[in-house]
Amino acid sequence: MPIALAVHGGAWNIPDEAVQPSQDGVRRAREGGWRRLAEGGSALDVVEHAVRLLEDDPAFDAGRGSRLNDQGMVEMDASIMAGAGLEAGAVGAIRDVRHPVSVARQVMERSPHVMLVGDGARDFALAAGAETCRTLDLLVGRERERYLRVRSGERELVEREFDPEGLPEEGPLGTVGAVALDRAGHLAAATSTGGTQNKAAGRVGDTPIIGAGTYADDRFGAASATGWGEGILRVLLTKSAVDRLAAGAEPELAARSALEGLDRVRGKGG
Ligand code: GLY
Repeated sequence: MPIALAVHGGAWNIPDEAVQPSQDGVRRAREGGWRRLAEGGSALDVVEHAVRLLEDDPAFDAGRGSRLNDQGMVEMDASIMAGAGLEAGAVGAIRDVRHPVSVARQVMERSPHVMLVGDGARDFALAAGAETCRTLDLLVGRERERYLRVRSGERELVEREFDPEGLPEEGPLGTVGAVALDRAGHLAAATSTGGTQNKAAGRVGDTPIIGAGTYADDRFGAASATGWGEGILRVLLTKSAVDRLAAGAEPELAARSALEGLDRVRGKGG
């Protein structure tokens, strides 16, 4: 059985100074994930591991490096899905954990639920023994500076975050994700994000919504989305891509055609 792994760190115009760190981060996640996959690891373990590596990397908007919300807090979303039995787990607006993707996996495996949010998600993570931290441990200088600029009146940093004509250095950072196919023929997908610049406290984007940010079905394919969550949510982007695979489209065409669906909601993503 062939094995396969794809990882992403967003899909935007990357500012010049961030190109190298972004490429290095994606490469590290790909290599780390590939090693496990080649050694016979399960697709589920591999996507979790690759996304954890990306969450640790401050080049991306996930885990350490996450955007701050309008209250100056880091609230993160993540999800994971196993394509064999369509099992899934997700967390929304979770604070104070180092690896939201691993909490999402624990929700999948150790709770009767698919998604937990906010304080309930954090309480669950604590009880499940997840690695905890403070907002300060996840905060990087770049985000502190942006937060202060927005608070001091630079609203265009928020308004133009997803504007393709906007200055790339003011644009969005990457949500991260991975999809894998293991030797047993199982697929899995995982996605993690710190969300959008200055989002309202409690805002949940596409990333933890199964079918929007993440989807995997052994019969057809797996997908992980990145982009403006409010658009991706309304077209259920990853399920839409996998539906196209189910209908026989090649992966690239399936992705392109699903992305065309974003036009209807003036969405932007990849
Ligand atoms: N796609 C990430 C977000 O909008 O939160």
